Amino acid sequence: MKFTEEDGPPLPPLRSLQWCTCTSSCLRLQKQEICTCSYESFRLTQAKARALTYFTLWIILVFFPSFSVLKDFWSNALFWLLGCVEGRYGPNCERECRCQNGGKCSSTTGTCECTAGFIGARCNITCLAGRYGHDCARVVLCGEGAQNDPVTGRCHCSPGQRGEDCGQGCAPGWFGGDCAQRCNCSNGGLCDSVTGTCTCGLGWTGPHCDTECPPGTFGANCQLKCDCRNNGTCDRLTGTCLCIPGYYGRQCENACPPGLHGPLCQLQCDCLNGASCHPSTGLCVCPPGYHSSRCHRECHQGRFGVNCAQSCDCVEGTPCDPVSGRCLCTSGKTGPRCDVDCKANRYGPDCTERCECDNGAYCDHRNGRCTCLNSWIGLTCQEGNSDSPTHTLQSPQRASNCKRLRQQHKLH
Ligand SMILES: *[C@@H]1O[C@H](CO)[C@@H](O)[C@H](O)[C@H]1NC(C)=O
Ligand SMILES: *[C@@H]1O[C@H](CO)[C@@H](O)[C@H](O)[C@H]1NC(C)=O
Ligand SMILES: *[C@@H]1O[C@H](CO)[C@@H](O)[C@H](O)[C@H]1NC(C)=O
Repeated sequence: MKFTEEDGPPLPPLRSLQWCTCTSSCLRLQKQEICTCSYESFRLTQAKARALTYFTLWIILVFFPSFSVLKDFWSNALFWLLGCVEGRYGPNCERECRCQNGGKCSSTTGTCECTAGFIGARCNITCLAGRYGHDCARVVLCGEGAQNDPVTGRCHCSPGQRGEDCGQGCAPGWFGGDCAQRCNCSNGGLCDSVTGTCTCGLGWTGPHCDTECPPGTFGANCQLKCDCRNNGTCDRLTGTCLCIPGYYGRQCENACPPGLHGPLCQLQCDCLNGASCHPSTGLCVCPPGYHSSRCHRECHQGRFGVNCAQSCDCVEGTPCDPVSGRCLCTSGKTGPRCDVDCKANRYGPDCTERCECDNGAYCDHRNGRCTCLNSWIGLTCQEGNSDSPTHTLQSPQRASNCKRLRQQHKLH
């Protein structure tokens, strides 16, 4: 018999018997005991032991030689008579069996007789899926992904399957191996029969579908983003925008038209001076130059602009335009702050008028009145004799002219 490397190294052979302490089924020879029960690699069957006993007795009776002779003979006879213990084979039982998975080993050749569910020289190959039994010869059909027992052929269902052939899914509300676990999906969420994972319906999220969609999201598992403008809130089921008063449109993108406010823009603004109002609150939004709740008050003197928030930059006592803040100069003054006197031939508010005084007469910056020099008289000092100053000063005509000039200015 040939052995390969694979068979492993030979174990120590047993060429001679040794005396040992007996445990059971021993032979008694001359008051000594020879253990044959579990003696190293050897196995002594009961029948063989009996035959051996008789044979030995016969030898003893016939020859009764020295014990050493008997010992050699005994040793050789054992190899002939006895089989190897389990797990050993070959001459002198030197070899170790290599059968796996309960395979039985021939004590002469070492070949394996596999148990059901295994094949291969070493019985180390399990039956493929769908096969079972002795030599993997029998066939069984289990549901998709399900394994069968290679020995009995019974189907081992994977999670989410049940039934003899694993052909059925779990009942609603159950999942996992043997469909033994309870689903825990609230609010109509679907349960995965394998993992138990919940697939949430509209407006819900979380592992158990018991969390409402956070603001700004909606739909299945809250996966969609809302797009509501102007503080509109989103329906977490449908994504529809619910507008706050003063706004309308699919995304609440439109504010009420000017002059209207409130829910569905059905209220009128109560504001004056062309003021609009806030679409939601109806509070008046005053134009520059006006203030108060209904925008009916002009800015106080010295202030201007939106909400009358700005201060005028004019010389003391000079008002400014409540809208633009432009300084409104008094007569005889000009400049951005109204702190500049009119030039010699100018008069009036902001020095817009041109003086008409002639012959070197003095022009009053506030009203344009002429103060004639020498003997000149008339509204603009163009009349009279320049050579007689006394005449001019007391002239009745001049006095009446002055009166007219004053009236003229009042009309301005
Ligand atoms: C069986 O044993 C042989 C030899 O040790 C090895 O090559 C093979 O991979 C084994 N097969 C399995 C399925 O374990
Ligand atoms: C189901 O989930 C809720 C939380 O949503 C939890 O309080 C409850 O204990 C769970 N029930 C089971 C049977 O797991
Ligand atoms: C939206 O709400 C914020 C905070 O409350 C507020 O400041 C803003 O003015 C609001 N917008 C509208 C259009 O109402």
